[in-house]
Amino acid sequence: MPGTELFGAEERKEIEDVLSTGVLFRYNHDALRNNHWKAKDFENEVKKITGAKFAHAMSSGSTAVATALAASGIGTGDEVIVPPFTFMATIEAVLFVGALPVFAEIDETLCLSAEGIKKAITPKTKAVCLVHMCGGMADMDPIMKVISDHNLILVEDAGQSFSSSYKGTSTGLFGKAGCYSFDFFKIATAGEGGVMVTNDETTYKKADVYSDHGHDHIGAVRGMEQHPYLGFNYRISELHAAVGVAQTRRVPQIKEKNRANKKMLIELLSKTPGVSFARLPDPEGDSATCLNLLLPDTATAQRVVDEMKAAGVAGFDYWFKNMYHFINQWDHIKEMRTVSKLPIEILGAPQDYKNLHLPKTQETIGRLISFGIKYKWTEEDMRTLAGKISECVTKALKTENV
Ligand SMILES: Cc1ncc(COP(=O)(O)O)c(C=O)c1O
Repeated sequence: MPGTELFGAEERKEIEDVLSTGVLFRYNHDALRNNHWKAKDFENEVKKITGAKFAHAMSSGSTAVATALAASGIGTGDEVIVPPFTFMATIEAVLFVGALPVFAEIDETLCLSAEGIKKAITPKTKAVCLVHMCGGMADMDPIMKVISDHNLILVEDAGQSFSSSYKGTSTGLFGKAGCYSFDFFKIATAGEGGVMVTNDETTYKKADVYSDHGHDHIGAVRGMEQHPYLGFNYRISELHAAVGVAQTRRVPQIKEKNRANKKMLIELLSKTPGVSFARLPDPEGDSATCLNLLLPDTATAQRVVDEMKAAGVAGFDYWFKNMYHFINQWDHIKEMRTVSKLPIEILGAPQDYKNLHLPKTQETIGRLISFGIKYKWTEEDMRTLAGKISECVTKALKTENV
């Protein structure tokens, strides 16, 4: 959690600016706010890092994904290709805009593969919601070819990959709209917050309106603004945005340290038989928030997890068993358990979610163990950690041979 590791005076100063005026609302109140516009500042910082023409801050990464989908024209009955390895929010966003998720295969990039997307396309496919996982990036050249060959809309959920890029373009900027999460666990946090980016003005304007009850944000009298479209309240507060500003300014520094720490761990672990790493289609674009280990197979990975637990190694995720990131545990979607009826329950699911055949995904996630990279690790911390991981892998491989 590098962002929160560096919480300090800069964050307090930004918060204090907001508290000094008491204007916690991102719009209007010009006379009272002493020229503090934290949501706008947050958006500008995100634009600086990503190079996006437009950025719109919202209450969470989840609401940013939902808004990106809606502003890209995705709605009821549209089939949207999604990955089975992502945070559940991606799938919820697709469902709650009324669309129908179609699960496709990922590969060792931990993201949807071009081949996986291609195989999942049907005459009803409208869009792909591509997720850039674990601080890295999807393999964009072949993916963009499939998107353009099939005339699909691309929305990118870069919730976990703010500041990552592929061949010089930021994740989130390949399609119609993209988004980042600034929740507590990300490279930069706003406490809770999300930002949608796009290079398309119309998509940006739709998002701006959709995320604030239809307000067009023209004029100084809020109650008299026009409402070109229906919307809802996905607004970010000035307090959250204030934290987001200070944290986003830290990202270049955090990323540099992340990358150095990850490089050192990879060097230390490369010598361990049985350990390989998730594929980064552009290593230069890695935000390096995660060290993603791939073990030879699922059984070995599970034994490594057991060994690490027994040895007191902490700070890793075994996604194969995770309730919120991997489809194997998503019983609520498989049984369509909803609090109130969703369009998919009336229209019918495009796949039998209980019996999906995704062998490449199962094999990849079964082998994957991820460690969150820490900014404040010392060289000694990393040598100790790598040593322990190595020991656990070696033990797990020996157990297999017994
Ligand atoms: C890929 C992805 N998308 C969306 C989200 C949702 O973000 P938030 O927690 O800010 O709502 C997350 C959060 O972890 C995520 O990892």
